[in-house]
Amino acid sequence: MQKLEVFGPNKLKGKIDISGSKNASLPILAATLLSNRKIYLKNLPKVKDIETMINLLKSLGSKIKFKKKILIINNTKQTNKIASYKLMKTMRAGILVLGPLLAKFGHAKVSLPGGCAIGTRPIDIHLKSLAKLGVKYKIDQGYVHAMAPKGLVGTKIRFSKISVGATENLIIASSLAKGVTILKNCALEPEIKDLVNFLNKVGCNIKWIAKRSIKISGVKEINENSYSIMFDRIEAGTYLIAAAITAGNLRIKNIKSDFLKTEIDILKRIGSKIKVKKNEIYIRGAKKIKSINLKTAPWPGLATDLQAQMMVLLCKANKSSVIQENIFENRFMHVSELNRMGAKISIKGNKALINGNTKFAAAELMATDLRASVSLVLAALTTKGRSIINRIYHLDRGYESIEKKLRRVGAKIKRLK
Ligand code: UD1
Repeated sequence: MQKLEVFGPNKLKGKIDISGSKNASLPILAATLLSNRKIYLKNLPKVKDIETMINLLKSLGSKIKFKKKILIINNTKQTNKIASYKLMKTMRAGILVLGPLLAKFGHAKVSLPGGCAIGTRPIDIHLKSLAKLGVKYKIDQGYVHAMAPKGLVGTKIRFSKISVGATENLIIASSLAKGVTILKNCALEPEIKDLVNFLNKVGCNIKWIAKRSIKISGVKEINENSYSIMFDRIEAGTYLIAAAITAGNLRIKNIKSDFLKTEIDILKRIGSKIKVKKNEIYIRGAKKIKSINLKTAPWPGLATDLQAQMMVLLCKANKSSVIQENIFENRFMHVSELNRMGAKISIKGNKALINGNTKFAAAELMATDLRASVSLVLAALTTKGRSIINRIYHLDRGYESIEKKLRRVGAKIKRLK
């Protein structure tokens, strides 16, 4: 099993190019199932989750190849409607193939998904909402068996809770439904806007009609076209935090700073000096980090996917801070590993009380989920001596060439095989 070895402390200096967004690529890849033509996708990140989604699409009959970094997906002969457990077990976003398969074929059998163990993560909102479009389903032996005997028919749906995945699944499914679908209480994450932009580019008819409401007029078919995926704002946020925590000096490139306003604001408040341009951000981390209380929230609030990284940063703050996790009930798995390194973090319900002024001690560590893993890398970067991070397959699911990107800006980090 591969590990990362980090010799700290490291002060990061230089520029980092941000890759394409994993969380925007996954629904867009799933949405290509709607098509009977070729779709060309640019700026996909080279990470394991994307590989898994491509393998899932291939298992469903999509013909896929890379040509000069462009992914060409050809669904002219796509026939299989069964998404197996083998491909769904590691990645929750696999459930996003359910909507397009139902829209295209009227029936599908999809394994219940796996993914990060950061909460119970049910798919009830996906299923209840699809039922409103005319889908009948049952769950049997770990699979969702779903069919739409009369095809999908547009209607009004109000999500009971804001869910990124359910919003995406329903936008994709409704794109080929008969008539008009109105979705209310939608998630507004930039990745959802990227999905809508992609679908409109290939001929769908989707409009935002109010802050959290979307109107989708179903179309009969999807056109051939190309699309370039947005940048990964979580990767960008992680490297901004890396600069802040190491008192480093980084230039974060290939981004849109508008999508990082919340993170930039927090980092300024804890003392970092930041200069924002449209497509890049310059950050200089302060020697003294100020404490701050934070809570995660749906966009435009602080992303839950940056909570673990922010927590490491606040371990280094001058006083104690509180982070309230409002999206996933079990997303504090990084805390016990950080405490093993000398942090003093206690959990009460969905709040973490973080004592500041932590001097981390180098240790051998275990990654538990995608963002928890990267928080351990951040901690190790600030720590004197040799730290080892085990089980980095979690990290490889979502961070492209992390050790190479960090090495280029001065980190002493190596992959051990
Ligand atoms: C997506 C992101 C993930 C991010 C999360 C929240 C992708 C591939 N993943 O995950 O990185 O952390 O958004 O921003 O884009 N819920 C239900 N029933 C459902 C669906 C969700 O109760 O049917 C709950 C979840 O358990 C969670 C909350 O709703 O408590 C939000 O989850 P959701 O927004 O759906 O997250 P994902 O789409 O899984």
